[in-house]
Amino acid sequence: MENIERVCKFLDNTGTYYLATVEGDQPRVRPFGTVAVFEGKLYIQTGKIKPVSKQLQANPKAEICAFADGTWLRVAGKLIRDDRIEAKKYMLDQYPSLQAMYSAEDDNTEVLYFEDATATFSSFTAAPRTVNF
Ligand SMILES: Cc1cc2nc3c(=O)[nH]c(=O)nc-3n(C[C@H](O)[C@H](O)[C@H](O)COP(=O)(O)O)c2cc1C
Repeated sequence: MENIERVCKFLDNTGTYYLATVEGDQPRVRPFGTVAVFEGKLYIQTGKIKPVSKQLQANPKAEICAFADGTWLRVAGKLIRDDRIEAKKYMLDQYPSLQAMYSAEDDNTEVLYFEDATATFSSFTAAPRTVNF
């Protein structure tokens, strides 16, 4: 399995991860769940009307944290908006429950992919393992 797929699988398996952004000098963090690999990149989904989206447009630096089975994962990098319909459609196809709220053609749906990402798996019992994508 490729590194990026390991990261995606870990996030998918935890069900909930926490996405941190910055707003000026104030960190912001919230629970997120959407994640998928599309065209070799790690994508998440949100809505353009949300503060998280506005924060990422002002400053794309972001970090994700998730924890499961004694291991925690942090993914740090930039989240870049992809406005292509096919990318939005792919993400919504992974999450049928979101299709009541979002569609690939609406003005709100936003998908973003990680650029210059460093993902680190850590635990109390093993040395950290870092992958880049
Ligand atoms: C378990 C869980 C998963 C969530 N997943 C997402 C998600 O993938 N995308 C999203 O936009 N909001 C998701 N939300 C909702 C956001 O956490 C919520 O809209 C939050 O307020 C967004 O942050 P903001 O208010 O700073 O914009 C999720 C909420 C929960 C409880």
